[in-house]
Order: sequence, then C-alpha cells, then structure tokens
Amino acid sequence: MSRADDGSPAALAPTTGPHLVLVGLMGAGKTTVGERCAAILDRPFVDTDVVVEATVHLSVTEIFEQFGETRFRELERQAVADVAASPAPLVIACGGGAVLDAGSRRALRDAGVVVWLQAPTAVLETRVGVGSTRPLLRAAATLERLAAQREAAYEAAAHLTVDTADRSIDDVADAVLAAVREVDTWIG
Ligand code: S3P
Repeated sequence: MSRADDGSPAALAPTTGPHLVLVGLMGAGKTTVGERCAAILDRPFVDTDVVVEATVHLSVTEIFEQFGETRFRELERQAVADVAASPAPLVIACGGGAVLDAGSRRALRDAGVVVWLQAPTAVLETRVGVGSTRPLLRAAATLERLAAQREAAYEAAAHLTVDTADRSIDDVADAVLAAVREVDTWIG
C-alpha cells in the first residue's frame, strides 16, 4: 500500500486492501450509510442493485416483474462476483438478499470486511414503508418473515454487526468505520 503523507483524508485513503461491505435487510441503511462511508474513506461506492440494473437496463422492479426473482438472483450473484473482484477497494452495499447465496457470501468475506447493519423490523418498516415499491415488500409483515428466514445468512456473511436503530446516518457511518478499524488496519 502506498500512502501520500500530506495528512489529508484523500491522501490517507488506502489504494489497496479489502472492500468495506454492508449487508442487511431492506431499510437497514446500506446505501445511505455506504455512501457516507465512501465519502469519508474517499473510495468509490457501489450498490449491487445498481450494477444489476445497469447490466440489463431495467429497474429491479421491472426485472422481478418481467423475469422473476430467480433471474434477479442470477444477475445479483454475477454483480456480487464482479464487484468483489474489483482490485480497487470499494464500499459495497449489497441488496438485502445477496447473502442468501453461499458463493456470494464467500466472495464478499474473502474480499472484504462485511458489516451487518441491524435494526428491529419495526424500525425497518418505518424506514421503507409498508407497500413500498420494493418488489418483495408489497405485503405487511414481510420484513418480519424475511428477518427470520435470513438471520443465519447474515450471521454467516458478517464479520461485524452494527446497530442502526435510533442513530443518524452519520453516527452509523462513524460506528461502522470505528468497528472496522478495530479489525482491519487497511481500512481508513
Ligand atoms: C431485496 C432487497 C432490495 C433489492 C430487491 C430484493 C431483498 O435491495 O435487491 O428488491 O431480497 O431483500 P435493498 O436491500 O437495497 O432494498
């Protein structure tokens, strides 16, 4: 790793090292917190949903409607593999279901420090709104069910967990970076 020595945040940003990967349910704050962390670390930010959408020039909702969830998951698996393989260190926000795939979990853990952003489902619901445009969230209580179904996958994927309830985006971003620095001196 080469670091310039003028002390500015950009100069201190690593030019190599692991990605910072954010996982968790819809509404956990992966995108907003990820963008904030990327700005602090002076790294590119990538959202796997955006990568998927760019690949087929359709929104996530359109992919679900036209091709179904199975096809979306295939595209998501490829997107995760591609971003995890980036030689430049990224901040990666994963779609909420990306860690359901064991290969994706492995790729993310091997290439990054994986942080699970947590919040009670009642908090997530107020953030995303019931009847959200997200295709998996059209029914009430869906988040509760997904939380139970996915807990083991998030646990298997994550190196660290950060509680996001009752915290601002800036506070969560600071908590993520502090937790990551404890385990990995490459990050920031
Ligand atoms: C999904 C979460 C969404 C998106 C898709 C499926 C999920 O991403 O990938 O609607 O299965 O939890 P966000 O978690 O960024 O909302």
